[in-house]
Amino acid sequence: MSILVTGGAGYIGSHTVRSLQSNDRKVVVLDSMEFGHRSAVGNAELVVGNVRDRALVTELCKSHNVTQVVHFAAYKAVGESMEHPDRYWLNNVAGSVDLIEGVLAAGVREFVFSSSCSVNGTPTKLPVDESAPVAPESVYAETKAMVERILHWYGVTHELRAVSMRYFNAAGASADGAIGEDWSRAQNLVPLVMKAALGKSPPVQVFGTDYPTPDGTCIRDYIHVDDLADAHMRALDYLHDGGASTTLNVGTGTGTSVFEVIHATERASGQTVPYTVAPRRAGDPVASYADPTKAGSTLGWSATRTLDDIIGSAWRWHSAHPEGFAGF
Ligand code: WQD
Repeated sequence: MSILVTGGAGYIGSHTVRSLQSNDRKVVVLDSMEFGHRSAVGNAELVVGNVRDRALVTELCKSHNVTQVVHFAAYKAVGESMEHPDRYWLNNVAGSVDLIEGVLAAGVREFVFSSSCSVNGTPTKLPVDESAPVAPESVYAETKAMVERILHWYGVTHELRAVSMRYFNAAGASADGAIGEDWSRAQNLVPLVMKAALGKSPPVQVFGTDYPTPDGTCIRDYIHVDDLADAHMRALDYLHDGGASTTLNVGTGTGTSVFEVIHATERASGQTVPYTVAPRRAGDPVASYADPTKAGSTLGWSATRTLDDIIGSAWRWHSAHPEGFAGF
C-alpha cells in the first residue's frame, strides 16, 4: 500500500512526506516541479508530472498500489489569484477534478485535501470553528471552497471519502533543519521577518499598528508545519479506519500578533529584527485563530509545538540556508 502525495516537493507537502516516511508509510510524490524542489523530497520516489494528466495519475496509482491520496498541489498566492484567476480555476479546481477522476479510475477512495481557513474570509466569530460561514474573499480562497464541495459530491456519486484540512498560518521548518520554506516566493510574515533579520531584504513592513489588539498589530494562528504534517498522517489513518468525510480546522487555537512574531525571532536569533511601520494591508482581518476542538476529537490530534519552536526552526533553516534549496 502506498500514499500518493501531490505537491510533495513543496513546503507542507515535503514535511508531510518526511513525517509519513518516518512512520514507515510508503510514499510516492507527484509534482510538476514548477515550484517544488527535488532536494526537499529526500529519498521518496518522485514522479514529475501534472495532476491534470489523468492517465498518468491512474497508471501511477496502479503501478504503486496507491490506496490513499494527500493533495497539496495548488497555486496559493492570494494576490496573484486576483490578477490571473484563470491559472487558479484551471490548476486548483480543474486540476483537482482531473486528479480525483484519475485516482477513482485506479480504485482509490480515500482523499485528504489541503484546504485553508481563508475559505471563511474575515472571521465573524472567534475562535473560528468548522460551522463558520464559507465566505471566500479571493479567487484563491474560492478555489479551496469549490474543491471542498466537489469532494462532497464525489462522495455522493462515487463513494469518495475525504478529509478537507483548513490550515491556518503554516510556518517553521523541520526540527533537524534539513528542509524548510522556500522564501524566494513567500509573501508570508515569518519568512519575510527571517529575511529582514538576516539582512537579505530591507526592513520588514509591519502592516498596521493601530488595530484593536493588545499591541496594535494583527493576530493570526501560526501552526508548526510539522504539526500540520502530523495532522495529515492522522487524517489518513482516520480514513483507513473507515472514517466518514469531514472538514477540520487545523490550527493551534492560540492567537499571535505580528510584534510577537518579531520578538520571538529576536529571541531565537539574538539579533534585532529591522522593521518599518506601514499602512494596514487591504483585506487583513484584525484577528483569526482556530477552534481545533473537532480536529482533536476526530483525529486525536492537537498541535504540540510552541511559537518559539516555530520561530526557532525557521531561524535554523533560513540562517543555515540563506539561498534556500538553491544552495543544495
Ligand atoms: C500574516 C500577518 C499581515 C507580511 C495566510 C495565507 C493564507 C492562509 C492563511 C493557507 C497579517 C502581517 C504580513 C508582511 C505584515 N493559509 N504581515 N508584514 O494573510 O494571514 O494568510 O494564512 O492557505 O493562504 O496567506 O498570512 O503571512 O500574509 O500575514 O505585517 O510583510 O502578518 O498583515 O496580519 P495571512 P500573512
